[in-house]
Amino acid sequence: MARVFLTREMPGRAVEILQAAGHQAVVWPDELPPPQVELAAELAQSHAALTTVVDRITPAMLDGAPDLRIVANMAVGYDNISPAEAAERGIWVTNTPGVLAETTADMAWALLMSAARRVTESDRHTRAGGWRTWSPTGFLGMDVFGATLGIIGLGEIGEAMARRAVGFKMRVLYHSRTRKPALEADLGLEQVGLDELLAVSDYVSLHCPLTPETRGLLGAREFGLMKKRAILVNTARGQVIDQDALVSALRDGTMGGAALDVTDPEPLPLAHPLFSFENVVITPHIASGSMATRSKMADMAAENIVAVLAGKEPINPVNRGHR
Ligand code: DGY
Repeated sequence: MARVFLTREMPGRAVEILQAAGHQAVVWPDELPPPQVELAAELAQSHAALTTVVDRITPAMLDGAPDLRIVANMAVGYDNISPAEAAERGIWVTNTPGVLAETTADMAWALLMSAARRVTESDRHTRAGGWRTWSPTGFLGMDVFGATLGIIGLGEIGEAMARRAVGFKMRVLYHSRTRKPALEADLGLEQVGLDELLAVSDYVSLHCPLTPETRGLLGAREFGLMKKRAILVNTARGQVIDQDALVSALRDGTMGGAALDVTDPEPLPLAHPLFSFENVVITPHIASGSMATRSKMADMAAENIVAVLAGKEPINPVNRGHR
């Protein structure tokens, strides 16, 4: 019987899937993730681990886990582990592509709309008793219909974001490593350079993975290129943005606002200056968080583990381990 460590209670059927394949599923019982020392100790005794984006797996932990064969991340991103370091040790790393793009794009749109039409700000005002009358000038926001959306990173999620923009009759620009002529034809997208995208867009939405190339992709220079009323949406990773530069840009009024599902660090300390801006919306990294999608992600991670423990290749590898 193989021992599988799950770093948190999972939605869906992950535990059942593992047990049905004859494995022992050991679930970390706390709401908070295992501290690094405990995580290392659990990995040291396990044949497989089902992890989340907040479980940072270091090379030293992998060295201390002689029986570990797979780290199955229940996320499409895997910046919490080095797939190359894992592969050197024969350990598979897997992710969950194909199941969370639509749900994540729904949330990116919720954030965009919320910042554009000042939803959270006016909700706070209403709850505080500030609604005294209908006002011709109250909480005037930005139109979304007919505006220009700039998408950075046109993978599955960026594409789902773009598809939704068609209904709002938006002009959609994208900046991505790979050109997508079929999508350009289908949705009327335009590929442009990053600077042009920033200068022209009313809304800029980030959908790229965190890599050495994208870390700090948007900083003071880039914020300076944006339109004065432009809104930045981030459902990718907090580290893609230079957050101090974002704070300065918001303070100087260089840009119109930000809607962030991801920050650096997470959670963002309550004393952080980003919390002081009325034109900033912050949610706790929940973009993939529908019941159905999170269940699919956890089930998929469990299926990857079952495959590897049965001596097969996993379904969603991001590196190559040993069979
Ligand atoms: C991911 O999948 O990478 C998200 O950040 C968590 O859903």
